Amino acid sequence: MTRKVSYITTPLYYVNAKPHIGHAYTNVVCDTFARFWRLSGQDVFFLTGTDEHGTKIEKIAREQGQTPEKFVEEMVPHFKALWAKLDIRYDFFIRTTDAAHKRTVDRVLQKLVESGDIYEKEYSGWYCMPCESFWTELQLVEGKCPDCRREVQRLQEKNYFFKLNQYQDWLLQKIQADKAFIQPEMRRNEILGFLRQPLEDLCITRPKARLGWGIPFAPNPEFVVYVWFDALINYVSAVGYLQDAVQFSMHWPADLHVVGKDILRQHAVYWPIMLKACGLEQPKTILAHGWWTMGGDKVSKSRGNSVDPWLLSQKYGVDAFRYFLLHEVTLGMDGAFSEGLFRERYTTALANDLGNLWHRYASMLAKYFEGLVPETNESALAAFELVTRGRGLLPKVSQAMAAYDPRLALDLIWEVLVRGNQFVEEQKPWVLAKDPAKTGDLKLAIAALGDALAHVAVILRPFLPHTAETMLVRLGLTAPPNLANLAEFERALLKPGTRVERGDPLFPKLEDEVEEKV
Ligand code: ME8
Ligand code: MG
Repeated sequence: MTRKVSYITTPLYYVNAKPHIGHAYTNVVCDTFARFWRLSGQDVFFLTGTDEHGTKIEKIAREQGQTPEKFVEEMVPHFKALWAKLDIRYDFFIRTTDAAHKRTVDRVLQKLVESGDIYEKEYSGWYCMPCESFWTELQLVEGKCPDCRREVQRLQEKNYFFKLNQYQDWLLQKIQADKAFIQPEMRRNEILGFLRQPLEDLCITRPKARLGWGIPFAPNPEFVVYVWFDALINYVSAVGYLQDAVQFSMHWPADLHVVGKDILRQHAVYWPIMLKACGLEQPKTILAHGWWTMGGDKVSKSRGNSVDPWLLSQKYGVDAFRYFLLHEVTLGMDGAFSEGLFRERYTTALANDLGNLWHRYASMLAKYFEGLVPETNESALAAFELVTRGRGLLPKVSQAMAAYDPRLALDLIWEVLVRGNQFVEEQKPWVLAKDPAKTGDLKLAIAALGDALAHVAVILRPFLPHTAETMLVRLGLTAPPNLANLAEFERALLKPGTRVERGDPLFPKLEDEVEEKV
C-alpha cells in the first residue's frame, strides 16, 4: 500500500534577477513546514523551482546581449545555491524549461482545446509596446499606458482564451463552502470580493511575432503559451500528471501552495479553474503571506531595494536569518526589514534567551558535576514547572503549525527559554553549591534545566536545523524522538552519566558596528 504524500509547494521564481529576502522567506517558511511534517512521520514532497519563460526574461536576456536559453542557464544556479545555503531541503526543483514540464503543458492544452475550454477569438485593444501589455479603453490614463505613461497603439489580433467565466459560480461556492481553501481569512475575503465582479476569460497565448520565448502553443504554431498558464501547470507536471498515473495519485492534490499575496489571484482564481476544467481535485490550502518591505516599499527586484539573503546569513548565520524571517511577522502580515532590527532580535532572542541559557547550563554542569548529566529522581524532576513546560511543548507547537503560525510556535518555545533563565535566577545554583546538604537540590535544578533544553532542542529542529543539531549532539541525544510520538517526546530525554559538551557560544555576541546596508 502506498500512502498519500504530503505535498507542499513554493511559487516558481522568475529568473530575471537573483533571489532576495522575499524569495528566501517563502522558501524558509515552506522548508520549516516540510521539516515539521517529516519529523511528524509524514512522507513529504517539497517542490520549488524557477519560472523561465515570458517577456520579462526575454527582455532582460536581450538587454544583456544573450539568448534567453543561455541567460536562464546562468541564473538558475543562483537560486539553487541560495537554497543550499539556507538549508532548504526540497525534494524536487522544477524548471519550466524542463522537457517533461513542457510535454505536460502540451497535453493539458490539447485536453482543454478538445473539451472546448480553450477557444479562439479576435481581440482588439490598446497595446503598449514597451510593456507588452494590452489595455482596455477604460484602463488608459489620459490615453496613455497606465503603467509607463507612454503612447499606446490600437491593435487587433487573434488569440486563444481560457474560459474562466463559466466556472465563476462554481469557484465562488467552493471558496464559500471551504474555509480552509484560501488562507488567511483576510485574503479569502479579498478573493471573494474580486469574484463579485464578472470574470473575464483569460488570454493564454501570445503571437510568436511579439514573444518568441515561451512554450510553443501546439494547436497553432504561430503562438506561444502565456507564461502564467505555463507556470501554474508545474504543480501537477512535477508529480507526473498525464505522464505517470501512480506517481500522480500519490501526490495530488497538493496539501499546501504557499505564495506571496502578489500572486494570490493567479493561484486562487486561475489555478482552481484550470484544475476544475481538467477534472482534477483542488489543493487543500492556498496560503498567502505578506510582503517584506524596506523604508515602506515592497522589497523587489524591479525597485532595486533588494536585501541580500546570502550576505545576511553569511554575516549572522543561517539559523539567525531563519529565526528572524519566521518570527518577525505573523504569517500573512507584512514585515519591515532593517538590519538594526535584525541585530536587536539576534541579541535578545538568540544570543541572550537561547545562547546564554545553554551556556549557563553547560557551564554549571561542568563546574558542579564534571559535565556529566546527574542522576535524579524522576518524580521530583517532573514536579518542576519548567520541566512540565518543556515536556508539554509538542501538542502546542503542533497546533500552531497546523494553524500555519510558525511565529506562535517559536513564541511557545521561547516561553520555555525565558522561563529557564528565570529559573536559574530563582534557584541560584551557585548558592546551593556552597551547602553540602543541598547537593540533591543542586542536582535537580541542573537536571531540570537540561531537561527543558533537551525538549527545546528536539522541537527546534524544523525551525533552526543547525542550532538544534548542535545542541542535540552536545547533549548526547544521538537518536532524538520524532514529533509523531507524544509519549516519547514527553519523557526525560537525557541519560544520566552522559557527558555534555559546552562548546562555543551558539550565537556569538555581535560586535558593535556602524549600521551598514546589506
Ligand atoms: O511571481 N516579500 O515570480 P517572482 C515577500 N514566477 N515575499 C516576496 C517578496 C517580498 N517583498 N517579493 C517576492 C512570480 N516574494 C511567478 C510565480 S508560480 C507558478 C509563478 C516572493 O519571482 C513571494 O513568494 O516575482 C512572491 O509570491 C514570489 O516571491 C514572487 O516571485
Ligand atoms: Mg514578482
